[in-house]
Amino acid sequence: MGNSKIILTGDRPTGRLHVGHYVGSLRRRVELQESGEYDKIFVMIADAQALTDNADNPEKVRQNIVEVALDYLSVGIDPAKTSILIQSQIPELTELTFYYMNLVTVARLQRNPTVKNELHMRDFQNSIPVGFMCYPISQAADITAFKATTVPVGEDQEPMIEQTREIVRKFNSVYGPVLVEPDIMLPTDKACLRLPGIDGKEKMSKSLGNCIYLSEDPAELEKKVKSMFTDPTHLKVSDPGKLEGNTVFTYLDAFCKDEYFAEFCPDYQNLQEMKDHYTRGGLGDMKVKKFLNNVMQATLEPIRARRHEFEKDIPYVYEVLKKGTEEAREVAAKTLDDVKAAMKINYFDDNALIQEQIEKYKNA
Ligand code: TRP
Repeated sequence: MGNSKIILTGDRPTGRLHVGHYVGSLRRRVELQESGEYDKIFVMIADAQALTDNADNPEKVRQNIVEVALDYLSVGIDPAKTSILIQSQIPELTELTFYYMNLVTVARLQRNPTVKNELHMRDFQNSIPVGFMCYPISQAADITAFKATTVPVGEDQEPMIEQTREIVRKFNSVYGPVLVEPDIMLPTDKACLRLPGIDGKEKMSKSLGNCIYLSEDPAELEKKVKSMFTDPTHLKVSDPGKLEGNTVFTYLDAFCKDEYFAEFCPDYQNLQEMKDHYTRGGLGDMKVKKFLNNVMQATLEPIRARRHEFEKDIPYVYEVLKKGTEEAREVAAKTLDDVKAAMKINYFDDNALIQEQIEKYKNA
């Protein structure tokens, strides 16, 4: 087990997954799954984490568990190679969280940049749920329960992995070497690191309403691509255009492959040629958007088709989730045993302790 390579990653089930998830994480997960380099891969539907800021809306979380599972299956996450699990159904994770809480200060949680940013966006004012403040600790439990070595996630999750590493170091130095320090695995491509929404403003996110969903239907997808933010100073076709901050080109960076040019836009051999023409002047936004639409349709079409097949067999989806959760629970239970033994809170298994108590009272 010493040199095992184990992946854990996950998503909050608060909506269908979008193409930002796809280029930022899902596509990579499938490659890693197919690489054969990992001994175990766990993908978590983090419903308990979703409830930390949706406590009043459990129905939303409940509905989206199956949506996210369908998205996973449709991009090619294969339950024969990857365990898909539901966080809340593994009580060992909650137990680990509770013990880790003693190793983290309130000040440290308040300094976590992702939490800070989320607090700002959610506008909790003076009613921040304690559970929400503690979700980085619960995420550390998620990761360490499976002794994950590698956590493929987006850039916004970096502070969570850093906090996890701190908890691991603290735990191991206080109680002994039980937990494994995970490494983050970020997308290698800049466009994929933080795909902007179609408005070009910020990261794609459901709450900003600027998403293209993986399951988007073709007409809606085309409409969204056509409405995308480009270069506002590129007024006439003959004007030179800018690539910087031009969402259409950012998406092409994330989705385009050279072979799409032969198929959809034979005027160019590759993206660089198209970009050169655009910056020189003489290439209109509409032509680029048409091409991007073709690229996006080609990317999403097989995903949509597979989703449609899985939608016809919802009992199978539940079976996958149940089996994946059972596999994962076994692993988490073993880690919790190790943790409790290291913390010496395994009273009924601790024969030395029982003997000690017998000795202490032998003259009673
Ligand atoms: N915080 C992650 C997100 O918002 C979801 C998540 C929960 C996660 N537990 C995890 C990601 C463990 C990686 C590892 O997307």
